[in-house]
Amino acid sequence: MLTSRSPLALRPILRSLVTRGYASNFRASDLTIKPRTSPPRVKSPKEQLAFGKEFSDSMLTIDWTREGGWGIPVIEEFGDLAISPAATGLHYGIQCFEGMKCYFSPSDDSLRLFRPDLNMARMNSSMQRLAMPGFDGGEMIELLKKFCEVEKEWVPKGAGYSLYLRPTAIGTHPFLGVDVSDHVKLFVIASPVGPYYPTGFKPVSLFADSTNKRAWPGGVGSFKVGGNYGPTILPAKEAMEKGFNQILWMFGDDDEVTECGAMNLFFVVQEGDKKVLWTAPLSRGDILPGVTRKSIIDLCESWDGIEVRESFPKMPEIKKASQEGRLLEAFGAGTAAVVSPIERINYNGYDINIPATGELTSKVWDELNGIYYGDIEGPEGWSVRV
Ligand code: COI
Repeated sequence: MLTSRSPLALRPILRSLVTRGYASNFRASDLTIKPRTSPPRVKSPKEQLAFGKEFSDSMLTIDWTREGGWGIPVIEEFGDLAISPAATGLHYGIQCFEGMKCYFSPSDDSLRLFRPDLNMARMNSSMQRLAMPGFDGGEMIELLKKFCEVEKEWVPKGAGYSLYLRPTAIGTHPFLGVDVSDHVKLFVIASPVGPYYPTGFKPVSLFADSTNKRAWPGGVGSFKVGGNYGPTILPAKEAMEKGFNQILWMFGDDDEVTECGAMNLFFVVQEGDKKVLWTAPLSRGDILPGVTRKSIIDLCESWDGIEVRESFPKMPEIKKASQEGRLLEAFGAGTAAVVSPIERINYNGYDINIPATGELTSKVWDELNGIYYGDIEGPEGWSVRV
């Protein structure tokens, strides 16, 4: 008998979902590795690596079409993509990406990823926001592991070094109508990296920009879409010309602090006998849910002597805390930069000077790096062996 729970009864529903493309998935077990035809690229000595300028030999690609769903995952030679000049990703910013790193752990000669499940969840949410198809994060993590294994010679060894992974999804549908993209390409490229800033772990200075806004309530600031980054480049360039390294992004009449550069931003302030780690909340949808941000919050919540506060700090409050000697530390956090200490913020022409790399900044840096490279065990599931 055909009951509502029988597989046969479910088939028409599944078929309709597959036809719409959204229910199909790719499987790591279907991976095809195409043989290389050109010789391996030359690897620079790690000390010469500048962030994101060199790329490994291969890339992972998976195509999706509305009619056929996800295709077979392929690892092939790194090279230019052939897409139509009419592709939706080139015209309407139907594009999103992730930033992850693969680390070499000298303790057991393993390669490791850091909380890749969070990147996969965020990528799914960015793709969903752009009306792109979803995918199974677990399958993608297995593919990333295989990709890292293939590219293992490209993982630079040593503290501060890693293979930066850039999963990206673009609309490839050749269609100029402003509409859902019927073709999507998901790909992953890899770049051996050292410190994100040419200055290394040196503290940075920020210009609090009261003109330009990075994100706003109801916008897409909480999604990792390229459209959140491109428009920041001109203000950042102008800030650099004024002698600052990055912008501090504010929002609202009260100059609420949101993010800095392409990083989440943290302050450490003294309140009575309490030390507070203060960062903007995700609740309004204008803050990127950073993996490093979450990990710092998770760690600090488990440590004694520090209270975590997720609410919007206002620049006048930060200025006041500084004038009262209560602004102890400030740092930006992100996958690429890890933790970037801040030594100066220019707010309406007034310089807020912050003590050099503080106690908590260093503790967070040491703990995260310890976990990344397998020297510290870390919470369950954070460090994932390839
Ligand atoms: C990252 O921290 O991985 C980022 O994506 C920031 C930037 C390089 C775009």
